[in-house]
Amino acid sequence: MITLSGIQPSGQLHLGNYFGAIRQHVERQTTPDESFYFIANYHSLTSIHEGDSLAKYSLDVAIDYLALGLDATKCTLYLQSDVPETTELAWILSTFSPVSLMEKGVAYKDKIAQGLTPNIGLFTYPILQAADILIMQSNVVPVGEDQKQNIEIARDLAQKVNHSAQKELCTIPEPMFVEKGANVPGTDGKKMSKSSGNTIPIFAEGKALKKTLGTIVTDSKGLDESKDPESCTVYRLIQLFATDEKADEIAEAYRAGGYGYGHAKQALQELMDDHFGEARERRHDLSTRPDDVMDLLREGGRNARKKAAPFMEAMREHFGLLTTDTSPSVRA
Ligand code: ADP
Ligand code: TRP
Repeated sequence: MITLSGIQPSGQLHLGNYFGAIRQHVERQTTPDESFYFIANYHSLTSIHEGDSLAKYSLDVAIDYLALGLDATKCTLYLQSDVPETTELAWILSTFSPVSLMEKGVAYKDKIAQGLTPNIGLFTYPILQAADILIMQSNVVPVGEDQKQNIEIARDLAQKVNHSAQKELCTIPEPMFVEKGANVPGTDGKKMSKSSGNTIPIFAEGKALKKTLGTIVTDSKGLDESKDPESCTVYRLIQLFATDEKADEIAEAYRAGGYGYGHAKQALQELMDDHFGEARERRHDLSTRPDDVMDLLREGGRNARKKAAPFMEAMREHFGLLTTDTSPSVRA
């Protein structure tokens, strides 16, 4: 079994990324599967054209992943741009993709609805994502629920290629969603997302964290009033961190009255401090050793490219893409 997932380096990672994706990536390391996790920097180009920012965010995602427990000896952590064959595969897949399939893309439709002009990269974003997945012959793709459509498109394209080739050139991937944390709310109660400006960064701490938690929108019930935990964003976030027992205890306090939203936010901050304490320390340490992190990524990139090469070789051969280049870096 091959597991693969990616995260865009487009800003600070947040609790949605953690509970929807990263946590299960770290947990799956203990399974005997071969796992690939990558930093989707080509995808981020659809929204970031500042080279320095993209490079910095990319290294930050690697540091955050490692700090949160990803172990580069158990899985392959790499930069998408270290497997440039992905863009070649994306081109081949684009010739199988009806325009109408891309027009249904949620991210693309959102941009249009906001009155913005999407670039072609955003339009064909799902094709590049399909290439990421298919090039490693992935079986399982652990992601947040918002990625459902993109995985569906990857499956669809894999089937179209196989149908055309009359053989199983592509492995059909399955998405994998978490039960708890598939849709983490942001400070405004809507889905947490970098583009919505409602995120709680995983690595915020101290005063900065307190300030961010202070912006979580609640109703205006006074301290003494009884409150409904289920409809409260602070409580939904607490539930992600707390044991069932602790969560029940806090729910009881909400209902009883005399427990204000300030108390709940304080409890949330304590739970986050507990949960991320060790990861914060590891992150401080890794931040002082960027060269070591680059070494890990280099090794991961080599591994990933080695895995991608025979697949691309088979694709090129099948589609009659002649090549005169026999150098080992591009040939299987
Ligand atoms: P963003 O929407 O902030 O740009 P990404 O698109 O880079 O985040 O998402 C990276 C991973 O995190 C994906 O697997 C995605 O499904 C997951 N994810 C993002 N936001 C959330 C959320 N609010 N709840 C659950 N999972 C999320
Ligand atoms: N689109 C994903 C996101 O925004 C990132 C991504 C790119 C990805 N390629 C992927 C996720 C391949 C899983 C598999 O979160």
